[in-house]
Order: sequence, then C-alpha cells, then structure tokens
Amino acid sequence: MAKQYQFPKDFWWGAATSGPQSEGRFHKAHRNLFDYWYDHEPGAFWAGVGPDVASNFYNDFRQDIALMKQAGLNSVRTSIQWSRLIKGLETGEPDEDGVRFYNEVIDEFLRQGIRPIMNLHHFDLPYALYEKYGGWTNKKVAVLFADFAETCFALFGDRVKEWTTFNEPMVVAEGEYLYRFHYPLQVDGKKAVQCIYNLNLASAMAIERFRQSACEKQGGRIGIVINLTPAYPRSDAAEDLAAAAFAETFKNKAFLDPAVKGVFPPKLVEILRKDGVLWESTPEELDLIQRNTVDFLGVNYYQPFRAQAQTAFDDSEGWLPEKYFAPYEMPGRRMNPYRGWEIYPQAIYDIAINIRDNYGNIPWYVSENGMGVEGEEKFRQANGMIADDYRIDFIKEHLAWLHRGIAEGSNCFGYHLWTPIDCWSWSNAYKNRYGLIALNLANQQKTLKKSAYWFRDLAAHNGFTE
Ligand code: BG6
Repeated sequence: MAKQYQFPKDFWWGAATSGPQSEGRFHKAHRNLFDYWYDHEPGAFWAGVGPDVASNFYNDFRQDIALMKQAGLNSVRTSIQWSRLIKGLETGEPDEDGVRFYNEVIDEFLRQGIRPIMNLHHFDLPYALYEKYGGWTNKKVAVLFADFAETCFALFGDRVKEWTTFNEPMVVAEGEYLYRFHYPLQVDGKKAVQCIYNLNLASAMAIERFRQSACEKQGGRIGIVINLTPAYPRSDAAEDLAAAAFAETFKNKAFLDPAVKGVFPPKLVEILRKDGVLWESTPEELDLIQRNTVDFLGVNYYQPFRAQAQTAFDDSEGWLPEKYFAPYEMPGRRMNPYRGWEIYPQAIYDIAINIRDNYGNIPWYVSENGMGVEGEEKFRQANGMIADDYRIDFIKEHLAWLHRGIAEGSNCFGYHLWTPIDCWSWSNAYKNRYGLIALNLANQQKTLKKSAYWFRDLAAHNGFTE
C-alpha cells in the first residue's frame, strides 16, 4: 500500500548555496582564501576552473531566483561574502556596491515569496586577514568577524529573519589544518584545535552582537550550520567503540555542544589537555560562549563516518585526531557511484533522535543534503532535460527517515537540498553537480532538471506518497 509522508505545517522546502560559489568575483580586489589560492595555483582546481564567474548570480540573480521559484522553493540559504561587503577590513567600512547587491538580492527573494536565510561565513575568510593575522588561528579575526556580523545585522536585519554564523566550521579546521583541501593547506593538529576553539568563539561573539542589535525585536533568530557525520563503530569491540566515540566527539560534538549547550565536551577537553594540545582560552571567553548559544540549528548531512580502532598511528606530523581512530571502509557499504561518498539515509533519523534526546530538542532543519554527480550531462534527454531520477530517489529515502524522526518527536522544521543551481565547488569546481537546476557550462544556460519538477510537487503537497 502506498505510504504518505506528510510534513509539519510551514515546513521549509528549500535549497542552499553560498556567495563564493554562486556570485562570481565581482570585486577582484577583495579576495578570500580560495580566490587567493586559485590566483596562485589554478592547476589545483578541477579543469583549472576558478571562482571568477561561478554561476554568475551577481549578474543573473533575478533570473536565478525566478528559476528557484519555479522549482517550488519556499526558502533559500545563501551567504554574504565578508570580503565583498566590507572593503575596509580593519575599519569595517562597507563597500557601496556590495551593500547595493545584497540589498537587491534580499529584496528579490522577498518579492518572489522566498524566505532568505543569510549565512555569514562559507569557507571564505578574507585573504588579507590570513596574511596579517594568520586567519582563524588568531582570536583577533574572531573579533573582526563579529564586527562584520554586526554590520550585516544593521544593514539587512529588517528583512532577514534567519541568520547563521558559520557553514561547516569543522570543515574549515579540517581543510585548512588537517587534510589540506583549503588554503593554507597545512597539517598542524595544534593549529586545528585552536581554530576549532576560535571559530566557536567567533560564532558566540556574533550571536552576542545579534542579541544586542534590533534583530530580535524585528522577529529575527540566529543559528549555525554544522556538518554532522555520525560516527558508527566497526564492531562492538571496546576498542572500536572507543574509536567511534572519539570521532563523534571530535568531528561533531566539538561544535554541536558549544553551539547548543554553551560548553565544550569535557571528554574532549580532558584528552586534548592530556596530550598537551588544548586550545588557549580565558574564563571570560568561555563565559561568553556559555551565554551565547543558538536559537536553532542547521545540520548538513551527506555521509556517515565509519570508525575503527587505530593500530598504526604515525606521529611524524605531530598530534592528529587520528591518534584515536581510523576510518573503516565497511565492506558492502552503499556508495554514490558518481561521487564516491557513502549513501546512508538512516543517519538522518539518528541525527533527529540525537538532537531530540541530547540537545534539548532544539528546533533544527536539514540545511544541506544532496547527491553529487560527475558527468551529469550524460543524463540529458533529447528534450533537453536532465533526467536525474537517482537524485529524486536519494531525496525520498532521506525524507522517509527524517519523517520518522519527526513522527517520534524531533523538532525539525525544514529540508534544504544542496543546491538550487549547479554551482562552483571549491577545488572540485564543476566536477560534481548537485543542483535542481542545471548549468550548462558551454552556453551558460540554466534549465530545470527532472528533480526540480518533483521538488515543486513535494513542496506544493508538503510531502510525498511512495
Ligand atoms: C558541502 C559544502 O559540504 O559540500 C559545499 O557546504 C560544497 O560548499 C558541497 O559545495 C559539495 O562538495 P563537493 O566536493 O562534492 O563539490
């Protein structure tokens, strides 16, 4: 018998993108870390494609938002680029064209009846702040971020009701200081740990400014977008369980706990202290973090993390979190054949229950979920439409598990797909396509994929039947 998946009233059906991945470099003088990296090493980017044009949202935003409307989206997250909005990075002086652009974008979303969710950092630290201060390893950058956030709240808080401080802060620490996929491409566990702390501090400082601003009186709320990779142990052996527990603490709780509970996981603090790599903190900062927790949570979920006991830790590069766990390639796990990430929809239910039981059932939404596909043009049909049935199935499976989590009481208010329109994705550039709307790089045309029509029905019916 057909099963109906009906979602709560006013559910957010939407999609997420970011400024640096969609807009294009409208101010070449104002560079973020990726702009800088590309200018110096274009060969490190897929097909040598950099962020210069991206999906041209800077010029095409009215047409793009109209396409998003056609795909049925009632809400969209994008980000305000710090390096584009603020020209005087030390003085905080806004750039006139940046202010005009973001004002027009927000107004256009509202005119089309789409709720804009504005994020303040999506991997795009201004390069000048790396050059001068060493980036996120320096607490001065956290203060400057709070200044930038305050400017955004003052400029746009009359119309933007939902804000998020960071997208995937753990990926910043991992990419910059552990696994070398974000500039400055370093391996330095101690810096990674300080970066984790400073990002938590920066988020709390921005939240404090939010509470001091007029935003709350104007009906605003603030959250953070955290990527969760639930850690599952290889077996029930004590060593594997301990490995998964540490991976869970390091990868997920290091941001989840301070953001929602206002405190770092005691176990993490204990281990980092024992190993001599604990971050530098002050009682005043810890107090500020405790006082400034989020109103809601965005959760990006793509894949789980399978962990096993570490048996061969190589300490030649100093302390690394892998001292306590090793990744486990579970035989038979289901893989996305086009991207190489595991597909495990049940994790979204586990996340829902974890938030319900361990995080005070705080309101949350799926802020990113999606299926990257390399070579998606091969699914384009004679009528010009990309028939991405695999994406529709992927969304359905995740929604079915999310539905169960909600039915069991988890306080989830929305689902956002990554991404509305195929966008530029860091050093992977256009390799993996995620959009409901295809971008044809050859002629710059944007057309709805089959999934966009399906998503429109999903939003219109506030659910689906299977
Ligand atoms: C998410 C990020 O984690 O993954 C996005 O928030 C990114 O910015 C997306 O584009 C997809 O990544 P990739 O490497 O498959 O293109």
